[in-house]
Formats: sequence, structure tokens, C-alpha cells
Amino acid sequence: MSDAVHIERAGPIALVAIQNPPVNAASHAVREGLWNAVETLDADSDVKVIAVYGSGRTFIAGADIREFGKPPQEPMLGRVCSKMETLGKPIIAVCHGNALGGGLETALGCHARVAIDGLTVGFPEVTLGILPGAGGTQRAPRLTGIKAALDLITTGKRVNAQTALELGLVDRVTTGDPRDVALAAAQEVLYGTLKTRAVRDIDVEPDDAAIDAAAKALAAKQPLLFSPHKCVEAVAASTMPIDDGLARERELFGECMESPQRAGLIHAFFSERAVTKIPEAGATPRKIEKIGVIGGGTMGSGIATAALLAGLSVRLNEQSSEALSRGVATIEKNLEGAVKRGKLAEDKRRAVLDVNFHASTELSDFADVDLVIEAVFEDLDVKKTIFKSLDGIVKDGAILASNTSYLDINALAAGTSRPADVMGLHFFSPAHIMRLLEVVVADKTAPEVVATGFALGKKLGKVAVRAGVCDGFIGNRILSHYRKVADYLVLDGATPQEVDAALEGFGFAMGPFAVSDLAGLDIGWATRKRQAAFRSNQERYVSIGDRICEGGNFGRKTGKGYYVYGGDKPVPNPDVEGFIAAERAEKGITAKTFTADEIVDRYMTAMIAEAARVLDDGIALRPIDIDAVFLFGYGFPRFRGGPLHYADTLGAAELKRRIEAYAREDSYFWQVPSLIAQMAEDGTTFASRN
Ligand code: CAA
Repeated sequence: MSDAVHIERAGPIALVAIQNPPVNAASHAVREGLWNAVETLDADSDVKVIAVYGSGRTFIAGADIREFGKPPQEPMLGRVCSKMETLGKPIIAVCHGNALGGGLETALGCHARVAIDGLTVGFPEVTLGILPGAGGTQRAPRLTGIKAALDLITTGKRVNAQTALELGLVDRVTTGDPRDVALAAAQEVLYGTLKTRAVRDIDVEPDDAAIDAAAKALAAKQPLLFSPHKCVEAVAASTMPIDDGLARERELFGECMESPQRAGLIHAFFSERAVTKIPEAGATPRKIEKIGVIGGGTMGSGIATAALLAGLSVRLNEQSSEALSRGVATIEKNLEGAVKRGKLAEDKRRAVLDVNFHASTELSDFADVDLVIEAVFEDLDVKKTIFKSLDGIVKDGAILASNTSYLDINALAAGTSRPADVMGLHFFSPAHIMRLLEVVVADKTAPEVVATGFALGKKLGKVAVRAGVCDGFIGNRILSHYRKVADYLVLDGATPQEVDAALEGFGFAMGPFAVSDLAGLDIGWATRKRQAAFRSNQERYVSIGDRICEGGNFGRKTGKGYYVYGGDKPVPNPDVEGFIAAERAEKGITAKTFTADEIVDRYMTAMIAEAARVLDDGIALRPIDIDAVFLFGYGFPRFRGGPLHYADTLGAAELKRRIEAYAREDSYFWQVPSLIAQMAEDGTTFASRN
């Protein structure tokens, strides 16, 4: 029939299997195969009932996302679903694994749905910048009511088989092999014990209050996003006659498809998977069951928490028993938080600590661990000493990793007898929540050690990105550069709150000054002091942050930074205005005004410029790795796809033009990276380097 869709006959029953590994995405071949199968079986009068199921690990995980952005090929899934729904004989869906997006819509086009335990259903389209475009916005409200359908469609949340049953999306939940269940369910249709009906024949109960509430909530919470609002409009159309509603859904779907947010969100989806494609992918990871964490501060405790949540056995080390107790207390608090967020069952919380956790002030307790992650404060000499001691303690084959944010992993490796077993594992705070993990590969790191870093990242639920050694690796190196622009903008005329507001308007959850306050101003201060020794005297230096710190104010944790905390919401710190005025006066700067667009343009251009250098230096493998770092570690707006995806929407020629224009004010900071100059000349994009 077709490679992607296979028909099997059993008397009056026809079983239709979707076979498009790995996730049975509803590609053109699947849609065409289904269309032809339905047509063939419709014409065959011996066939009395049809059951559709998925071969392999899942039903249908949705449309084939790789086809988005390309010219659409008929038959579109919406037409396939309508063809099934209006078929003159019963057709049912048997779903296991995932019935997501177009997969769930295919099931809704059938006359009954049987779920196999373990099934996950949902409409993730909104997370990809689109809406269910194959009838989902019209058929789901007919089964669940408008309110529940809005909740599913505007959030993209995924629910299990039991919840799907309660919501009315499926008719029963059972267990078994998909083909066997399909055969048995089809027989029940023949016997009349499994009822069938077309969803289009069900009336929708109008619910204007739910529509209004959803529209208002989204306008307040997600004003920058496009597709969630279109989802509400589409569901609102479900009270129309179904064919009119389907036509309206199609129109709105088309608008979403055209939106640049769709391209950004889909790029973000693929970035999470692209980063796993590394040169070391073929190497066999070492077994990691027991890990040691050195340092019970915020980072060390966060890393230990992440490992405990993933079921690993963890040893925590601190120098003094006081520091150790503080670390243990932080881990306990983190685990309580995990229980509240539904990540850990309450009855498991105590067991995790009693069975899998051991705290000690003796490094010798690390003799049998498989991997150690050092997370002490940022001092190369201290870290070198620790690595040297560990080298003499841990067993052969144990991996030594540093959670340093900036420091030289090669230098740490050189002080040990096992440089091939040393790498950086750079977590982001809070380490048990933030998804990014930079796996920093030093000159001598062995391929299987890199592969182990990625395997560990997967186990911890992180997005691991391969990075090379340099000051700050991928993320912090780029951050150190573009963060200066925020300071320059303030020195030249903007206020910190104007800069923050402009970047929040671009889509960052928080502006750079609010972020600095949250992270602790002392961290940036320490970095600036460390960098002072090798800072060029041509570089503009802004000391407003130093002034704030000198007064003992380090941001949120001390109640005061760029903002003052404690009231209903943070307010600008009045002292900062004075520091700015004094520094402008001292440097003879006359304040200019900057529009929000100008602020965003300078900030983003600096980010892209340094990202281009990181790429050119081979610190990141591909542009998409840099995008993933910013999406998963730096709160970059997902709908913009990442800094280099965004860069392509501007084009290299425009970036070069901007940098040259800014360079008239500061030719040291603003230099056209050679990669951007080359791309401007040959008209290429970052995407072509993925
Ligand atoms: N289209 C194309 N490729 C897909 C895909 C899809 N819908 N879903 C997954 N894949 C690919 C992945 O990119 C990955 O490819 P590589 O191995 O080459 O990297 C491979 O399938 C396996 O995917 P995962 O690594 O994610 O596997 P997993 O087992 O961890 O998760 C999953 C499986 C839960 C199905 C997950 O892949 C997922 O959530 N997929 C997206 C589902 C989705 O968003 N569907 C809606 C599509 S939009 C739609 O359907 C619109 C419409 O109305 C017509």
C-alpha cells in the first residue's frame, strides 16, 4: 500500500498500521498512505470496521515538524481527518505511547478512541508557535467542553491516559499490544460493545465566560506571543457549524504558520535535540552511579540535588562541619521544593537522603565514586589543589569535573596524572532547576569522558551542550561581552530601568540589571576585579556596579542593588542615579536618549558579534549550540529561536552596518567579527552552518 501505512485484513476487520519511525510523525507519506487506505477500505464492501494503530513505540507524535516552512503537500492532515470522520463505516483509533498534536487530531477524526495505558496526549502546537490545524480546536471542545479544551490547547500541556478518559478525549483505557488491542476493539465494534460516533455530530455548549477569561489571562501573561491568542480565537469558533469552524481554524493556522515566531519556536525545538550530535557520540560512556560533589554552597547543593532527583548516589564534601550542615540544609530545602513542584513524591524525599546521600568533611570518602564535580568558589589555585588531592584519592577511571564558570580546565587537568579524565561540567543556578549544562572539553579529555558528560546530562534531564575551553566557555564568554553594552547605555544616557524594560519588551523574562541583582552583584564585581589585570586601557570601563558593591549592596540578597527590594515590587535605587551622574561628569559625557529599539539593537548586536567569534574560535560546534545555551541557560526568548537564529532574521550585512556605525563612538568594543564580515560578503546565514 505504502511504506508508511500498512493494511492487514482479518475477515470483516481491517487493521491500519502507521509505520514511520521513530515517532510515526504524520509526514506526507503517512497522510497519503492513510488517505489511500481509507479510500481502498471504503470501497471494499467486505470491510465492516477499520482500526488505526501505530507500529513501534508510539501512535502518532504529531505532524512532521521538519515539513513546516516548506510548501504544503496534499493531502493535508485536516482533510484526512475529515475523510475518516465522514466515512460510511466505523473507524476507530487505538493509541499507545504518544498521541500528540496531529496524532491526537487523527484519533479525534475517528469514531472511537481506545487508549493503551501509558499513553500521553496533548496539543503541543502552541509551544511550536502554531495551533492544532487538523480539526483539534473544533473537535476537542465537542468532547471536553470549551474550558478544558482551552486549557489543553493554549498551554500545550500533556496528560496521561486516565486524565484523557476523564476529559472525554478517549473512550476507554486498556492494556496490551497495540495490534492485539486494535483487533479486539474492532471486534467489539462489530458486537456493539464499543460504541462509535463521529465527533462532528456532538454539539458544543457555548462558554463565553471561559473564552473571555482565557483571552484576558493570555493578554496579561503572554502579550508578546502570537499563537496562544489565535488558539483562543480558533476554539471560540467551535460553536459554529463544524465545517465553518474548521475553515476558521485553517485560516488562523495559516496566520500562525506565517509568523516568525513559528520558525523561532521550531528552531528551539530542534536545538534541544541537535546539541546531542557531537563528535564523541560514538564513544561508550562510563558507568556513573555514585558521584561526589565538593562544595555545599548554592551551586554544589543544587548539583547534589539534581543528582539525587535523578536517582544517583551522592557524596557531599565541605571543609568544615558548619559549612557541611549548611549544604545539607540547602539540599533538604531543595528537595522539599521538588516535592511541591511535583518532581518528587513526599514518601521518597526522606528515603532519597537516607539511602542515597552521604555528607562528609573527608575527601578520602570519595575513593569509590565514579565522578567528582568540584563546585567551590572561583579560584584557580584552590581548584588546582583540590584536583591534585582528588587525583590521589579517587579510583582509576573516575572522572574529575569542575563546575567553574570561567577558569581554565586545561590548567586543572595538567595538575593531575589523568588529564584524559578531566572535563568541565558547568551547571547554571539553580542547578536542580536550570536545564543547561555546558560540557567543557579540554585538550586531553577522552571521547568517552565527553560522552559520559552527555549521558549524565541526559540522566539529570539537562540540555548538555559541548563547549571548548576559553574564559567563560560559550555562555559566560558571550555574556561578559554583551553585558557591557547595558552599562555603556546607562553611562551614555539610559537609565537601568529603561534598559531592563526594553529587553523585557524584546522577550527576556528579566532585564540585565534585574538579573544582576538576582544573581548577586558581588559575582560580577569579583569577575571584573579578576579581569582587571588583563583589561586593555582602550576598553571603556563603567564603575557604577562597583560603587553599588562598595556600599555593601549586592542586589536582592542584601535588599538593595540597582533596585531596592522589600516593597510590593522593586523600585529604582536612588543612589544609583547619583553614581551615574558622577561618572558621567567625571568622564565628560553628555547624556543622550535611546529608544527601546536602539537599546535592543545594540545589546543584541553585541551578543551576536561575540557569539560569531565563539563560533569562529571553535568554542561552540555550531550556531544552534549557541542558541541552545541561551535558550536553556540565559532566559533568551524562546519564540526568537536563540541569538543566532535571530541574527539570521537581521542578516549579516545589517549586523556589519550596525557594528561599523557603533564603532564611530567606540572602535575598541565594536569591531566587525571576521565571520560576520565574510558572511556579509558571501550572503550566507548562520543557519547554513548548522
Ligand atoms: N516531527 C518530526 N520529527 C520529530 C517529531 C515530529 N513531530 N517529534 C520527534 N521528532 C524526532 C526528533 O527530532 C528526534 O529526531 P533525532 O533522533 O534525529 O534527533 C526523534 O524524532 C526522537 O525524538 P525525541 O528524541 O524527542 O524522542 P523522545 O522519545 O524523547 O520523545 C516525543 C518523543 C515525546 C514524541 C517528543 O519527540 C515530542 O514531544 N515530539 C514533538 C511532538 C509535537 O510537538 N507534536 C506536534 C507537532 S505539530 C502538529 O501536530 C501540528 C498539526 O496540527 C498538524
